Amino acid sequence: MGREGFVPLFLLVAVASLAAPAAAAGDKSSDAAAIGDLAKSLTNPPPSWLGGGDICDRSDGITCDGSGRVTGINLARKGLSGTLHTSLSSLTALRSLQLQDNTLSGPVPSLAGMGSLTTLALDGNAFTSLPEDFLQGLISLTELSMDDLPLKPWNISDAIVNCDMLQSFSASNASITGAFPAVLANLTSLTTLRLSYNYLTGGLPAGLAGLSALETLQLNNQKSDAKLSGPIDVLASVKSLRVLWIQSNAFTGPIPDFSNSQLETFNVRDNMLTGVVPASLMGIMSLQNVMLSNNHFQGPKPNFTGTLKTQDIDSGNGFCLKDPGPCDPLVTILLEVASGFGYPYELAQTWVGNNPCDGSNQWLYLSCINKEVISINLANKNLSGKISPAFANLTQLQKLNLSNNHLTGVIPDALTTLPNLSVLDVSNNGLTGPVPRFMSSVKVTATGNQFGESGGGSGGGGGTNGGSSPSNPGGSQNSKSNAGMIIGILLAVILVIICVGLFLHHLRKKNIDKFSPVSTKSPCGESEMMKIQVVGTNGNINGSGSAVPTELYSHVSVDSTNIADIFESQGMQLPINVLLKATNNFDEGCILGRGGFGVVFKGNLNGKLVAVKRCDSGAMGTKGLQEFMAEIDVLRKVRHRHLVALLGYCTHGNERLLVYEFMSGGTLREHLCDLQHSGYTPLTWTQRMTIALDVARGIEYLHGLAQETFIHRDLKPSNILLDQDLRAKVSDFGLVKLAKDTDKSMMTRVAGTFGYLAPEYATTGKVTTKVDVYAYGVILMEMITGRKVLDDSLPEDETNLVTIFRRNMLNKEKFRKFVDPTLDLNAEAWNSLLEVADLARHCTAREPYQRPDMCHCVNRLSSLVDQWKPTNVDNDDEGETSAMGLNQQLEKWRCNDFTISDSDSFNTFNVSRKYH
Ligand SMILES: *[C@@H]1O[C@H](CO)[C@@H](O)[C@H](O)[C@H]1NC(C)=O
Ligand SMILES: *[C@@H]1O[C@H](CO)[C@@H](O)[C@H](O)[C@H]1NC(C)=O
Repeated sequence: MGREGFVPLFLLVAVASLAAPAAAAGDKSSDAAAIGDLAKSLTNPPPSWLGGGDICDRSDGITCDGSGRVTGINLARKGLSGTLHTSLSSLTALRSLQLQDNTLSGPVPSLAGMGSLTTLALDGNAFTSLPEDFLQGLISLTELSMDDLPLKPWNISDAIVNCDMLQSFSASNASITGAFPAVLANLTSLTTLRLSYNYLTGGLPAGLAGLSALETLQLNNQKSDAKLSGPIDVLASVKSLRVLWIQSNAFTGPIPDFSNSQLETFNVRDNMLTGVVPASLMGIMSLQNVMLSNNHFQGPKPNFTGTLKTQDIDSGNGFCLKDPGPCDPLVTILLEVASGFGYPYELAQTWVGNNPCDGSNQWLYLSCINKEVISINLANKNLSGKISPAFANLTQLQKLNLSNNHLTGVIPDALTTLPNLSVLDVSNNGLTGPVPRFMSSVKVTATGNQFGESGGGSGGGGGTNGGSSPSNPGGSQNSKSNAGMIIGILLAVILVIICVGLFLHHLRKKNIDKFSPVSTKSPCGESEMMKIQVVGTNGNINGSGSAVPTELYSHVSVDSTNIADIFESQGMQLPINVLLKATNNFDEGCILGRGGFGVVFKGNLNGKLVAVKRCDSGAMGTKGLQEFMAEIDVLRKVRHRHLVALLGYCTHGNERLLVYEFMSGGTLREHLCDLQHSGYTPLTWTQRMTIALDVARGIEYLHGLAQETFIHRDLKPSNILLDQDLRAKVSDFGLVKLAKDTDKSMMTRVAGTFGYLAPEYATTGKVTTKVDVYAYGVILMEMITGRKVLDDSLPEDETNLVTIFRRNMLNKEKFRKFVDPTLDLNAEAWNSLLEVADLARHCTAREPYQRPDMCHCVNRLSSLVDQWKPTNVDNDDEGETSAMGLNQQLEKWRCNDFTISDSDSFNTFNVSRKYH
């Protein structure tokens, strides 16, 4: 049957049914029966539904037409519970059914007979499943909202094509699974489509281009492992689009040309998009809110000159400069080259910033001399697209390998103008057209393509580097500059070694000076107790007589009170005799470790194990008591599951003691590189990932979520403590702040540990949260390789893990050997390791602005941890893992919520739920 004929026919029927009641199925009395059934199945129906008489007269939430048929039920937000009776579907005249925001449960009954229904609102209930025939027969439906339902996972069935009047379809957080439903492309009346927070996967179907009325599209935050992915080009064809939310997915490729659209809100943050942000986007006059952060955008930072209300583009991208403005010409050329291939993700990860040839941040697959690219090797990179003529602008290029990809199009003629080109390999692609004529000095390999004429074959000329004039002078020039460079590097290395030597020597000396007095100077015997003061009540009791202690401590009976009570009654202050007792007078045998700020003892406070940090008086001594107290006051408020909690403290003369929760699993350092000594078994990759995520969350909290921003400044594996389940907590945060007297001393005192110091911190003393991100990156590298950041036992050019890690990442084979040999990695784990390695590389970028924020690390890692959780579900016996997974899920939600509430604040259109 032709649909053109069908629709008017249906309209006729609908109009007729308004006037003449006794239409096909159902009548006034069956409606009354259905309402009666419904009243019974609800646990608390509107009171008037229970009385007798005409249902249309009672009308609590019921609307009727002139003939007494029920046309509307509105029970939104009535606090209803219970279920929906199956006779609901006999209300055949019903046009609007609004049940949103109650706690209705059980299955949604069949609605198949309700051909008049135009509005159906089920959202915000506790329905558990949908009927088999869901959406069948709902031919008049224009508005369907069903967000926030704890449904069994379901797919949008093809039956939805019959709802071709549907204008608004909102089903966020409704357990929809499967590939993005291509059938939606048939709903050409759609103006609003919301499918956020579901489990959709796969790419956007090309048919979406046909949704010519679509104004709001929200597909953000898919909860499936794979999320929505692929390019977003099709969206540029939806010309009516005003609001686009696709954040927190896995979309790839560049931003297409949206210049024909009416975009007001463009939220693509937290994806894997690449390339240069097109000028066409900046030219959209209607644009008000733009969110681009945490992708892999490259090239010049976009400059939205208009009147944007919200702009979130800075973090986590690879723009060449901090401010808008043209990039270095070499960057422009290379990105033009990448554009030919569609800005592949693999390139976008390292082709960032403004210095393609910059030592440790050098873009992958390039070789440079004197800041000029001399060779590019992109063989086997799964590239598609075209060979850009921009290659010809790399005038020093000698070797170009593009073999074994899927490139199409022609070899640009311009390549023949490269004066120094000696090797060109384009074999095994899908190239067509004539092969340009290269100079005889160029060895061309072009087999395995679809050239019309007999292609270049192997070699336009026999000699690889013939005596032709262009190549020789270049060669000698290069070797000259090579020599210069080598000498330069040697000098730099020697200088660095001297500096490191002096620095280490200085540290060692300092440490010796530091620690001896702690253990010998003022032994804490019984008599010492006499001088104890309870700090905070009043500061002037110092050195009072021997009669004082009984009074002071009379209310603390160490043996009978539990530790919580002690802390409670003393406001976290502990008398020193309690700590002396707990640590057996600071017995050497109780020492857990020594660090930059003192010695840590294991203590037993009434059966509860604690760690007591006895601060080095040199580090703390000059700090005023009040100031120390003020800092302690802040520190005790910093509470987080992944931070070691400060339980209490004690001051006594120059003594400063901090009491922490005891972590029975030792330090991460012991688990990573001191295995023979510590006797631990090597951590698995899953364990390392979990630890890395724990640490990231702890630091994220310190950086932004605590009452004030804390910068740890001394992150390292020995400051990461594990519990018996190998869950990690960060310790020693806030100590630098506790220890410092003034900013000046801060500069002279090198807080932090060599190897983990961000370059800008080491050289200028400038402290930002990115200092911790750097150290975190180093820790990730140690977790991947099982090596210490500085290893004197290795040859000189291999002592620094960061340098050699970054270098080895350039070569997959080398890198594989470099990974901790105790790790047993399947393919999936290996992929996740590569992701973490990439994160580590970014975290250790030289410029602070190139490093991601901690929140980004949390996001990256949590998606990886979640991603391969399922492989463990089956053979993991403890239920704890799944509980942990849930926690991580929840936390991920929370993290995402930031994103959302950010974007919420600008939202001018009407949404009922925060993430729509
Ligand atoms: C998703 O829906 C469930 C109820 O099904 C609700 O408890 C939860 O809060 C919703 N999630 C969000 C982010 O609103
Ligand atoms: C490459 O060189 C050509 C000719 O000199 C110039 O027109 C073009 O802008 C250059 N392209 C880039 C990306 O620098």
